[in-house]
Amino acid sequence: PRKIIIDTDPGQDDAMAILLALGSPEEIDLLGITAVAGNVPIARTSENARKVCEVAGRPDVKVFAGCDRPLAHTLVTAEHVHGKTGLDGIELPTPKMPLQDQHSVDFIIETLRNEPPGTVTLCAMGPLTNIATAFEKAPDIVERVQEVVLMGGAYFEVGNITPAAEFNIYVDPEAAEIVFKSGVKLTVMPLDVTHKLLVTAPRLQVFKDFGNHLGDVVAGWLDFFERFDIEKYGSEGGPLHDPTVIAWLIRPELFSGRFINVEIETRSDLTRGMTVADWWGVTRRPANAMFMGDADAEGFFDLLTERVRRLS
Ligand code: BDR
Ligand code: CA
Repeated sequence: PRKIIIDTDPGQDDAMAILLALGSPEEIDLLGITAVAGNVPIARTSENARKVCEVAGRPDVKVFAGCDRPLAHTLVTAEHVHGKTGLDGIELPTPKMPLQDQHSVDFIIETLRNEPPGTVTLCAMGPLTNIATAFEKAPDIVERVQEVVLMGGAYFEVGNITPAAEFNIYVDPEAAEIVFKSGVKLTVMPLDVTHKLLVTAPRLQVFKDFGNHLGDVVAGWLDFFERFDIEKYGSEGGPLHDPTVIAWLIRPELFSGRFINVEIETRSDLTRGMTVADWWGVTRRPANAMFMGDADAEGFFDLLTERVRRLS
């Protein structure tokens, strides 16, 4: 199995990504979860990550707390999407499993130095603050990363937090710029992909039909999380963003995209956090990211439900 660190700001869709990883032990070896501030502040994301592990029956997973604010701006959160706790939709008990003492950034650095080069993948599902900080603090680790796979950005689908920017990149564009310019192998799951992966009523029903606690928890989360998008955009279901990162590692054939140049806007007030993706190759700037454009929605939801069912 592939060794990964999940860097995350749960978030109901982050939670689904964690479940997908935990339900896929043949493909995925989860070394740890590093929380970051994003959808909600760090105290909540680090608690939510542990709630998810406990509900999956995995209190042994190591969970770390990381950066509490972006590199250069004040934290922008998304309670309007995820609710006050970040994981609204169903009440879960305060986790009993411990939060690790080590900082997320130090765990990332230590793990990349201890594991053989090219064997650890960083799966990023929130603002890129932890990963950028690790790259700045320990530049030697960059070439030891197997791949960074991240959910963030948008091209044709432009923004969900401003007209030009996707939430994860918008919250910490300086961190995103560091990662995109680092030379690391990079795979990006933008809104162009995730907006094709809608939690429609029949797809939600599959989880309800599990008829057990985990099914009810997932249904509670997704029911809450998708309301925002359905009401706002009138779509037939909310998009499921973060599990694409894990699905890519398990079934890459579900996704298609282009290896292109992607740069991050950090200066403009109007378009800060925009992922300027040279999809048509109109510049000579060197490609730095595999930028996905499409996904097989049926295949994705089949994989997700099969793997989450295994945990329950
Ligand atoms: C991203 O922003 C967060 O609200 C979600 O968890 C996802 O990571 C989507 O833009
Ligand atoms: Ca997220």
